[in-house]
Amino acid sequence: MITVGILTVSDRGARGEYEDKSGPVIQEMVAERLEARLAKYEIVPDEIELIRNTLINWADEMGLDLILTTGGTGFAPRDVTPEATKAVIEREAPGLAEAMRAESLKVTPHAMLSRAVAGIRGRTLIVNLPGSPRAVQENLETILPALPHGIELLQELAGASQRHEHNCREGLGG
Ligand code: MTE
Repeated sequence: MITVGILTVSDRGARGEYEDKSGPVIQEMVAERLEARLAKYEIVPDEIELIRNTLINWADEMGLDLILTTGGTGFAPRDVTPEATKAVIEREAPGLAEAMRAESLKVTPHAMLSRAVAGIRGRTLIVNLPGSPRAVQENLETILPALPHGIELLQELAGASQRHEHNCREGLGG
């Protein structure tokens, strides 16, 4: 079973002035579509050190398979989620962010304003999602079909690479 952490990045959310609606959207989608277990859920302000330390802790200490962040990926001065993520990943996974922006552009030109990044730290995949519940739903919808196979490869489960060769050759998922 895939273990997931959801990190909502929002100054107002962290102060309790605003109810986080995006975290629950992620939670519902990963539970239904990945049959994943929610291991961690936190709301932090847009502070680079806090975001960075949380990501490191969830990857290194908790050993989560997947961390999904929401918020702080735009152009506002306090939008630093991509910088915090870039500081902790060891390998980039640009295809996920490319796919999200490409699909989102079909819905809104504002997709160009998302600076979201995705990458790997150890055996943990970290993906930035935008902040609004609708944007979260649309972006997560795009990458969900590729996540189980990506996470499986990261975990190097027995037989995963053999299945990978077969499935990639056949154009299959999983
Ligand atoms: N992507 C989709 N699919 N749908 C959206 O509504 N909103 C955009 C973009 N990506 C949006 C989207 C907007 S308005 C912004 S500013 C950026 O994501 C960054 O969002 P964030 O600052 O909330 O992280």
